[in-house]
Amino acid sequence: MPVTYDLDGQKRVYATWAKFYDRIYQRMLARPQREAVAAACACGPDILEIGVGTGLTLPYFDPASRVVGADLSLDMLRVAQRKVTAQNLAHVRGLTVMDACRLGFSSERFDAVTAQFVITLVPQPEQALAEMDRVLKPGGEIVISSRLVDDGGLLAPFWAAVAPLAKAVGWSSDFKVSRLTNWASATGRYETVHVGRGYFKVVRLRKLASLAS
Ligand SMILES: C[S@@+](CC[C@H](N)C(=O)[O-])C[C@H]1O[C@@H](n2cnc3c(N)ncnc32)[C@H](O)[C@@H]1O
Repeated sequence: MPVTYDLDGQKRVYATWAKFYDRIYQRMLARPQREAVAAACACGPDILEIGVGTGLTLPYFDPASRVVGADLSLDMLRVAQRKVTAQNLAHVRGLTVMDACRLGFSSERFDAVTAQFVITLVPQPEQALAEMDRVLKPGGEIVISSRLVDDGGLLAPFWAAVAPLAKAVGWSSDFKVSRLTNWASATGRYETVHVGRGYFKVVRLRKLASLAS
């Protein structure tokens, strides 16, 4: 997946990827995407998907859900909109251009926020997480799926070593699970309820319900 750390560069990259993204990634990402969507749907109907891209995940949501998709790339969103129309995905209530680090939604608006194969592309992931936290209701979950590396896993040194090479060909190989779980612990408001296994992982961070006013 492309990794560029300037937003205009990111938009240019995805203007190109929009044309053939689904053909390459639809089958490859389906398992973690379905798992993440199921976890998000279990939290309640109002769900924000950040970095929704071409909307590969959108058909996986519960028809009773109310999903809003946000993405930096208008070109990717155009493909998503075509999917919504062609498949009559009535649960998709909106698709909007937005930066993960500056979400234009009111606080505590969503039951779940999911970000799939995007957190490793964001220059300041903690800032994106802080925004996800802001728009999430207490008791809800941030559900992330991505290529994530286990800390201390046997292959961790290997993935760190090949990170520059991976970046050169447009991939992220060394984003650690702990970057997410450390953020969750540091807030004092989240518990890590799930860390998946394998090459692509789903991580679920639950906002403590006792904070509800
Ligand atoms: C690898 S694609 C993943 C698309 C989709 N989530 C999926 O699982 O198929 C990454 C998407 O994240 C978007 N993206 C990258 N940086 C972003 C940011 N800062 N804010 C919002 N979206 C961003 C890109 O435009 C692209 O559509």
